[in-house]
Amino acid sequence: MKNSSPIGIFDSGIGGLTVANAIRKVLPHENMIYFGDTAHMPYGDKSAEAIKYYSLKIGKFLQSKGCKAIVIACNTASSLGFADLKEFLGDALPILNVIDPVVDYCAEQHHYQRIGVIATKATIKSDIYAVKLKASIADVKVQSLATPLLAPMIEEGFFQNNISKTIINAYLSSPKLKKIDSLILACTHYPLIRKEIEEYFNNKVEILNTAEIVADDVKRKLTALDLLNTSSEKPKYQFFVSDKTSSFESSTQLFFEDKINLVQNNIWGK
Ligand code: DGL
Repeated sequence: MKNSSPIGIFDSGIGGLTVANAIRKVLPHENMIYFGDTAHMPYGDKSAEAIKYYSLKIGKFLQSKGCKAIVIACNTASSLGFADLKEFLGDALPILNVIDPVVDYCAEQHHYQRIGVIATKATIKSDIYAVKLKASIADVKVQSLATPLLAPMIEEGFFQNNISKTIINAYLSSPKLKKIDSLILACTHYPLIRKEIEEYFNNKVEILNTAEIVADDVKRKLTALDLLNTSSEKPKYQFFVSDKTSSFESSTQLFFEDKINLVQNNIWGK
């Protein structure tokens, strides 16, 4: 494995591009290969077994592409597929998830006492955030809420409009989120609606910037493993999706802040 090898990043769809974008900002010399499993999006409604299977298959694909590390840029796959993928790949290459860095960040900040978590049904059902936060922060209260319509809504390009506002407000007005001091956007699609969420809470609740927290963690881990790319060549980015539609193509720029070329690669048919 070479330092110039790409970082592999995957998500159920294009939401993980928010993480890829944050990574390229803190690590501008890194090559990246992104895989969005758009054929199976949303993962949030799938069984744990299905999510484990998808994660393993995509992990193998990224390994076959010569990636030096894999970032699971999906909370649902991090909740349910991370342990199996890590076990399967063993010491072959580092596997990073998007949950542990956010939990560690909350624990380091010391001042969060009532943390809200919004995520897909599968992530909330796994209870992984509540378990990990309670193990790291004494007396913390965690309020978890499944918000299953948000990821498909965002992936279809619905945000900053009346439809998204109505759906977001319907979820956020849940009594569960009444007294929170901070909110974890526990789905990599949600940074796209961060502004609308901040507006709903009238800036009285701290909305954690999960993509940035994860990107800083990737930088720290690759530095510790002496895996940073030292080349000053222009980095190469490749973007694969398992199913390509025009709505994905048009939304990618919003997630990655740059025009990108999506290549269809149906690893499921192989
Ligand atoms: N982006 C994925 C996550 O972070 C979920 C969206 C989906 O349901 O596929 O959980």
